Amino acid sequence: MSCQITYLGINQSVVTSGAEDSLLEISIENKIPHLHECGGNGNCTTCRVRIIEGAQNVNPKTSIEKSTSDARKWDPSIRLACQCYPKGDVKLQRLIWSSGEVNKLQTELVPEGKAEERPIAILFCDLRNFTKLSSQNANFDLAYMLNHFYTALSEPILMNNGIIYQYVGDEIIGVFGTAGGMRQKNCTDAIRAAIGMQYALDRLNKIELKEFKVKLEMGIGINYGRAFVGHLGHPTHRQFSVIGDPVNIASRIQSKTRQTEAKILISNTVLKCVDKGSLDIGKSFHTTLTGKAEQTEIHEVLNFKQMDLQLELQASLYMLLQDEDLFAKVFYKKVFEKAPFVKALFKSSMIDQGRLLTHMLGGIVYSLSRPQHLKMGLKKLGQSHHHYGVKAEYYPVVKEAMLETIEDILGERHSTNIAEAWSQALDFVTDTMKSWNNNQVQERLIREVN
Ligand code: HEM
Ligand code: FES
Repeated sequence: MSCQITYLGINQSVVTSGAEDSLLEISIENKIPHLHECGGNGNCTTCRVRIIEGAQNVNPKTSIEKSTSDARKWDPSIRLACQCYPKGDVKLQRLIWSSGEVNKLQTELVPEGKAEERPIAILFCDLRNFTKLSSQNANFDLAYMLNHFYTALSEPILMNNGIIYQYVGDEIIGVFGTAGGMRQKNCTDAIRAAIGMQYALDRLNKIELKEFKVKLEMGIGINYGRAFVGHLGHPTHRQFSVIGDPVNIASRIQSKTRQTEAKILISNTVLKCVDKGSLDIGKSFHTTLTGKAEQTEIHEVLNFKQMDLQLELQASLYMLLQDEDLFAKVFYKKVFEKAPFVKALFKSSMIDQGRLLTHMLGGIVYSLSRPQHLKMGLKKLGQSHHHYGVKAEYYPVVKEAMLETIEDILGERHSTNIAEAWSQALDFVTDTMKSWNNNQVQERLIREVN
């Protein structure tokens, strides 16, 4: 029996062939971008949809879906698209549109109405010459600049599994590790975000805000400690909140960036959590923070000592996907030149296919900072590729075409570090995709031996 699935928001309807496909599989088949970090295994919740009409036409919740939705107190209209099989017409809305929104989901597991102590890294970023800017520019221009500042500088927080906690005037506050994780990872994520923010600010000054003839500067302070995290406030207006001394200390460390002329300062606690040898540390200071009697040690971070794969991928992603359609066009042209015989495997519009590919590439760069679902997702992608008729020997061609595309699109902005980072990342992606049936092979061997 065929059924009609309508995607509200993009106003698109598709008619299924009657196969036993989940809502997620229907999206993928019809080239409708639909996030699915864990590849449809019911673990990541990124495929969630709201069923607006036709709830009676889908199966009851699977056990994995039920435990997820109970833990997050979802209302019954929210379903995991990978666990939902339509038997009649359905109208739905996808709820997560971009990889940048995924981190926010961590706050769903934060307690309501009370706070819980959790170890987190806190990043305070302050725009340095904001007061001067406000007096020299019309409000309209100022809002434009601030919006660019917020957008460009928030992205590195999101790419490193952080949550944008608040924008306060010219300040951005990010938190890392709300949902747990190792302290080394959470602190390194915060430092990588800070360095990425510096890169983004350079880009803003050189390109997006060039016509304003201003040079924005900023200071960043990072601290790590046990803070209280919860949804607090009036029962009708609860807000995600992070409170406690570690937060105040992060803010005060940030305020020291002015007098020390350092761009990024971290507390000694942060330095103790990370692999010291991995960081290029500038000056270290003994200082007294406002409201504190004792002296504290803070350190200036200049960069990572060696090429950081994630940072290179993150910093180049924006430049690569500024025009997603161009990236896909150049890439597929190269693939078909190198291996004309694979063209026959592509059955539908190459524009839609290109958008899915670039969507997936962006998703992979974001998910490297929360890798627990990434491998699952890539194995599932590998399995689909097996069904599309893709053979293991085609993967090197795609890798080569992708690296050449990256070089062409970046032009003068390309570097050996970027090339190396993408080469390693593509090896990881393609090796994982190719290993989609490893478990099955192992299971079969075990059965045969027994
Ligand atoms: C870096 C590795 C690759 C990535 C990230 C990737 C990504 C994708 C994505 C996101 C889709 C959309 C459908 C889906 O999600 O299942 C897709 C479809 C497809 N890919 Fe790939 N792919 C990769 C490697 C390859 C290789 C090596 C080939 C071989 C030529 C290939 C051929 C195809 C084909 C034939 C389709 C289906 C097209 C259609 O339905 O018209 N891909 N790929
Ligand atoms: S939960 Fe559906 S794709 Fe991960």
